[in-house]
Amino acid sequence: MRSLLLLSVLLLAGLAAANDSFAPDRHFSLIDPARLDPAAAERAYARVVDDMAARFATSGEPAAKVYRRWLRTNRRPYLSATHGSRYVNNYVNRPARVYGTLEPGEAMPVGSIIAKDAVSVDSSGAVLPGALALMEKMEAGYDSVARDWRYVLILPDGSIFADSSGANPAGTGYCVDCHATAGDDADHLFLMPPGVARSPHAAP
Ligand code: HEC
Repeated sequence: MRSLLLLSVLLLAGLAAANDSFAPDRHFSLIDPARLDPAAAERAYARVVDDMAARFATSGEPAAKVYRRWLRTNRRPYLSATHGSRYVNNYVNRPARVYGTLEPGEAMPVGSIIAKDAVSVDSSGAVLPGALALMEKMEAGYDSVARDWRYVLILPDGSIFADSSGANPAGTGYCVDCHATAGDDADHLFLMPPGVARSPHAAP
């Protein structure tokens, strides 16, 4: 009896740990990220991005198939602490090009999509593909709590982990909660850290 109890406690602990790995700061986290200079980050990204994007494309999400043809708003991949100490990029479709120049109080137009891909580089120099995170501005009334943003997370194997409009919508709850802390005035966007943005005038 006692061993049965112990077993169920262990099982529960195991389940809790498994769930926990999907918690916001854990799910994305990398224990020992390498600190790369911008050129090295770009080289690391270049090594894996084609294969990585090919897998995202198998998700069936239309944006995942085309995002690399969009404007990349950052010059080089930059380290994102919140998105798991990974080197990230933001790509924007045409309606979302105001992303780089959004002023407080302005909102992104309906139809805007921001795609954030990511790679991680560990201290041994190994480059691993990260996830693809998407935000899409839907029609007014889609989700007032989320300021009508649809959130999607596609895992490196091309499976959809969560989609506000599809599989596991509840799995986007932590996206909504954290992005809401950016504030309504910023349209729930954190924008890019200083210094990484490509000049808005560089947009073709
Ligand atoms: C713990 C807080 C946190 C969580 C959880 C989080 N994000 Fe973010 N997100 C940020 C921050 C901070 C930035 C800006 C820095 C950066 O680029 O990583 C950002 C940037 C983004 C951007 C670029 C648009 C912007 O805000 O400037 C997208 C797209 C995005 N996140 C999607 C997602 C999706 C999809 C999820 C859920 C799967 C998610 N995020 C979960 C904090 C978070």
